[in-house]
Amino acid sequence: MGLVIAIANQKGGVGKTTTTMNLAGAFSSAGYKVFVADADGQQSCMSWAATADPSTPLPFRVGAVRKLEKNIGNEIGRLADDYEIVIVDCPPNIDDLTTGRVLAVADATIVPTNASPLDLWSSEGMMALIERTRVHNTQGKFAILVSKSNSKTLLHRQMSDVLKESNVSLLKTNVRHREVYPQAAALGRTVFDVRGVRGVKPAREEINSLYEEIVELLNAEDNAEVMANG
Ligand SMILES: Nc1ncnc2c1ncn2[C@@H]1O[C@H](COP(=O)(O)OP(=O)(O)OP(=O)(O)O)[C@@H](O)[C@H]1O
Ligand SMILES: [Mg+2]
Repeated sequence: MGLVIAIANQKGGVGKTTTTMNLAGAFSSAGYKVFVADADGQQSCMSWAATADPSTPLPFRVGAVRKLEKNIGNEIGRLADDYEIVIVDCPPNIDDLTTGRVLAVADATIVPTNASPLDLWSSEGMMALIERTRVHNTQGKFAILVSKSNSKTLLHRQMSDVLKESNVSLLKTNVRHREVYPQAAALGRTVFDVRGVRGVKPAREEINSLYEEIVELLNAEDNAEVMANG
């Protein structure tokens, strides 16, 4: 049984899809068999993959999982039977039930957050959803990722108390604002296989660092077996 990583935030444009696709690149580079499950009606991951040059396809599969369907959890479970890592890109809202259903089956949930007050306020809804999820998904791990931002100081200062009480960790990795991310997306690539774009090295380093932190998070207890075999 593979592991499920949900990338979720009710706020739009925080970097969910960018995190999903580049993280899939990192897990693939490390030798894992990866599936990106697009749970967002905008189908951004699907469009991203469709942009890739057919002669050099992405090193992981991308497919849509049905939005709003009651059985999205089962669908993701079936994918996890066939793939070692399933990364689910969630839609930018938590009003329909998609995100909640994905979180319910996720081994780890990563919440990309931009370091602005607006993002902090919107993340309160996410925190409440995480608390509700924990009741049933007792093994799930939850972490905030500071994304598209060159400083996490504000977020640290304002969120550390909330985070302490909630058991949600704040990842040490900070995915900075870099032009290489939209540029790679425009070519249908990840930072691991994009060519001829400046600034790719530090981006690769920070996504690798994110990958390592997530492996650590997943490894924390009973998921150790799958990670060891990867
Ligand atoms: N680290 C980054 N540096 C610079 N630009 C970024 C970064 N991450 C994402 N972007 C850009 O910001 C925009 C939004 O990113 P993305 O689509 O990943 O967010 P999202 O949370 O998936 O959005 P939505 O809520 O609409 O699904 C895109 O144009 C993307 O290329
Ligand atoms: Mg998106």
